[in-house]
Amino acid sequence: MSTSPRTSPGSRRPSLGARLAALFTGVSAVTALLVAAPAAHAADTPLRDLAAAKGKAIGTAVTGSKLTGTYGELAGREFNWLTPGNAMKWGSVEPSRGTFDWTEADQIVDFAEAHDQDVRGHTLVWHSQNPSWLDNGTWTPAQLRRLMTDHIALEVGRYKGRLAAWDVVNEPFNEDGTFRPTLWYNGLGADYIAQALTAARAADPAAKLYINDYNVEGVNAKSTALYNLVKDLKARGVPIDGVGLQAHLILGQVPSTFQQNIQRFADLGLDVAVTELDIRMQTPATDAKLAQQRTEYEAVFKACVAVSRCTGVTVWGFTDSDSWIPDTFPGEGAATPYDANYRPKPAYYGIVTALGGTVTEPPPPTGCSAAYSVQSQWNTGFTGYVTISCAAGSSLSSWRANWTFGAGQRISTAWNAVCTQTGATVSCSNASWNGSVPSGGSVMFGFNASWSGSNPVPTVTLG
Ligand code: G3I
Repeated sequence: MSTSPRTSPGSRRPSLGARLAALFTGVSAVTALLVAAPAAHAADTPLRDLAAAKGKAIGTAVTGSKLTGTYGELAGREFNWLTPGNAMKWGSVEPSRGTFDWTEADQIVDFAEAHDQDVRGHTLVWHSQNPSWLDNGTWTPAQLRRLMTDHIALEVGRYKGRLAAWDVVNEPFNEDGTFRPTLWYNGLGADYIAQALTAARAADPAAKLYINDYNVEGVNAKSTALYNLVKDLKARGVPIDGVGLQAHLILGQVPSTFQQNIQRFADLGLDVAVTELDIRMQTPATDAKLAQQRTEYEAVFKACVAVSRCTGVTVWGFTDSDSWIPDTFPGEGAATPYDANYRPKPAYYGIVTALGGTVTEPPPPTGCSAAYSVQSQWNTGFTGYVTISCAAGSSLSSWRANWTFGAGQRISTAWNAVCTQTGATVSCSNASWNGSVPSGGSVMFGFNASWSGSNPVPTVTLG
């Protein structure tokens, strides 16, 4: 049975008919709340409603401590699934042996229930983000197996009946399709996977059980190894409901066999979820890169929409301010559908299009542009100016200039504009007195900033 996305309150998995009825008649309390919720681009249909109309889930990884303000508003309004980005990993929940911290995990599950969302548990058996007591211990196979199955029984049991799915085993393969030599594989052999799945089923028979991995989005040696594994597990009667294709993708490298690969797993009688989508690029982002990213987000969602057993797509963080990419791949980023200031990026509209929605993005200003210049520079700082100009026949009544610093520059003060900087992303909007740029005219604002190493000139866009 495939796992359904959620749109209406009450039962954990309402029927598709009930969900569509609620969606289109507008009688659902949640739908009414969603329509009433104020926020950026509130006029657009929330992604979760578009996805539900297609019978799909749309999820996001979240950080529990951030689930307030605009972050919480968007996470609740736009998505019908949540995955704790880190909160349910072994190292998070049992940092010292026998000492548990469920605070963030509970917070996310409570938030999801309050917003009529499903939760994907992530993740039970992995080689990474384990507590050091576990990684550094010396265990006999019997002890290791007991540790693993007790951990699964405890964590899955804690949330029994509340989580829709679990990534039971995470990243078991090397790139060539051999098993990754982890604590688990080295101690228990490949059968640790079947043992883990069996323990998870016993702890919550209703939760869908997945094996989740990266670089398995296209047809390749690694995805074929995963295919052979799950085919074998099914043949042996081991409880396995689906595969998770993480989809940490690089701009320009979406595999051409994505849909074909989803289909071959579906043809085994398994669900397929895209579990951790992001599409990273070299920063700074440019209009051209963001346009390409839009196309690629659209393609990934369309591939899932095209295969009935693809349950949905989860993005690995919905805003560039909550993405693992810049920390792990210095010089890369801008990988998610919202910018660091929670404004929907072109990728967001690619998702809307793939889910059959109507794109109502604001038209980019035409005939007006922004130019960035460094006026003076000293050993640790510089003064920059941005000029916003409109050609004859074009004008602006307000403006916002956006750019991404490419080398760690940081603004300390700005004048004639209100500037915010989150990470490398800068957004400056007009001061109260200079929003108007007349036809054939220009306005200017300035700032002081720090730099070191190099001070490349970013591309400034208006939006
Ligand atoms: O919580 C500490 C904080 O106290 C400390 O100040 C800070 C200093 O660096 O580190 C914080 O922990 C970080 C943690 O994320 C929470 O932000 C870790 O250093 C950092 O390594 C950890 O990264 C996570 C990564 O998994 C670890 O492999 C990412 O947030 C998380 O998004 C990422 O998610 C994984 C999936 O679980 C599996 N698939 C790949 C995906 C991306 O790596």
